[in-house]
Amino acid sequence: MHEIIQQLDDKREQARLGGGQKRIDAQHKKGKLTARERIELLLDDGTFEEWDMFKEHRCVDFGMAANKVPSDGVVTGYGTIHGRMVFIFSQDFTVFGGALSEAHAEKICKIMDKALQVGAPVIGLNDSGGARIQEGVAALGGYAEVFQRNVMASGVIPQISLIMGPCAGGAVYSPAMTDFIFMVKDTSYMFVTGPEVVKTVTHEAVTAEELGGAVTHTTRSGVADLAFENDVEALLMLRRFFNYLPLNNKEKAPIRPTPDPAERLDYSLDTLVPDNPNKPYDIKELITKTVDDGEFFELQPDHAGNIVIGFARMEGQAVGIVANQPMVLAGCLDIKSAIKAARFVRFCDAFGIPIVTFVDVPGFMPGTAQEYNGIIKHGAKLLYAYAECTVPKVTLITRKAYGGAYDVMASKHLRGDVNFAWPSAEIAVMGPKGAVEIIFREEKGDPEKVAAREAEYKAKFANPFVAGARGFIDDVIQPHETRKRICRSLVMLRNKKIENPWRKHGNIPL
Ligand code: HXC
Repeated sequence: MHEIIQQLDDKREQARLGGGQKRIDAQHKKGKLTARERIELLLDDGTFEEWDMFKEHRCVDFGMAANKVPSDGVVTGYGTIHGRMVFIFSQDFTVFGGALSEAHAEKICKIMDKALQVGAPVIGLNDSGGARIQEGVAALGGYAEVFQRNVMASGVIPQISLIMGPCAGGAVYSPAMTDFIFMVKDTSYMFVTGPEVVKTVTHEAVTAEELGGAVTHTTRSGVADLAFENDVEALLMLRRFFNYLPLNNKEKAPIRPTPDPAERLDYSLDTLVPDNPNKPYDIKELITKTVDDGEFFELQPDHAGNIVIGFARMEGQAVGIVANQPMVLAGCLDIKSAIKAARFVRFCDAFGIPIVTFVDVPGFMPGTAQEYNGIIKHGAKLLYAYAECTVPKVTLITRKAYGGAYDVMASKHLRGDVNFAWPSAEIAVMGPKGAVEIIFREEKGDPEKVAAREAEYKAKFANPFVAGARGFIDDVIQPHETRKRICRSLVMLRNKKIENPWRKHGNIPL
């Protein structure tokens, strides 16, 4: 008995050492934590239950039979974050560069299967050189097994990827199918083909950081939702982020009591919208002044800034916020912003999180770049997402709601539950100038007539009352009472139930 216990201790010790002290030191030298240190920081103290610590690969080629490390390059199990269940895998770069073998994939699949059965989220901490080269197709098969589970879990349990090292080749497609991707600056990168292949094929000279670093993916590509300075910040922020999510699609996100009164009035909002309709203002000011305690967890802040998305709480209940941002491209909808918001709306809908939409949108972005790149199909994604969505939808038009973009932004016609407007709202097919240029073209040469027509059009449409008269707007509210009115609406909607017609699945314009 004593001997076997000693053996157990030795094996555990060996597993904990991963690829050995030298490689652990090298990991630390790069500013990275080890797989186990990361789990310790992410989970509540002492809650981690590790599985498959003794699992080893079965490869015998290239001298691998004599080269086995218990755990095989990935630490898996479950634990809690703020007392709530979560399954986790954390790739260990010190063991074969965290490369994925068949056994390594089996470990990930095992926790994914269990997470799906018990209804708890999966967090993947990715730090891997990709498919274990010595294993060939066995490793590729392992990846596909993970991909299949990512898809089955999609919309059932939240899946989050934190990229904390390399993630290259086909390996990127597992994170890509998860709900959120976070990255660590300077130490993580994601790309389908690395700089060397890029150089050979397209003759572009680019560094790994430029091609697929955290900055690239949180600004240009929009692949990642947020970038953090280092492992510690990333893991602590992930703990915070986790609080906004329900455990699965049948449960509600946790309620966090707040001292912030639901009836709180904010008179500074009465002057937020400038008198000049062409002058921008920061929609984030409205968001932070409306939500509980001014706390807004923004996602993708540096990508497609013309739309703002993120989580907040209203009376303790998690809500998804979508808002046009007049400070960037005048808040126009374009390809990137439509894709960004559509995916977020669909996440909220899949997981029962109400959506609050703030609208100040002059329309869709014109131009060949947009048309040639498919604004028609991409813009339709947002329209589709809002239209199919059945969670509570509260919409507030602060200023412009022009054209198709009015329809798209959670309008009454797309089953908006409560649609408010501020007195400054202008709901029309287009702005007065554009409208007069078209319908009074013959008066173009006469500036006085044009000015009179513009004033006439403005008087008719630059207000919320025409829409109000038709019931497209439920009420015109004072800006200072925004929080109170939205909170009341969300309370009223708490037990909302509507169902879409049965179908295998819809066909969102991809
Ligand atoms: C086996 C690997 C490995 C891999 C790294 N290692 N990648 N072992 N399979 N894919 C091992 C190295 O041999 C080394 O072992 C240790 O991990 C650390 O690697 P280094 O190269 O020393 O580290 P570093 O300089 O930091 O470079 C990391 C790296 C590089 C950029 C990830 O290792 C690399 O380019 N690896 C190959 C990446 C790759 O091409 N993977 C296949 C992608 S295709 P020792 O013993 O020296 O510590 C793919 C297909 C997936 O993944 C398909 C899914 C559908």
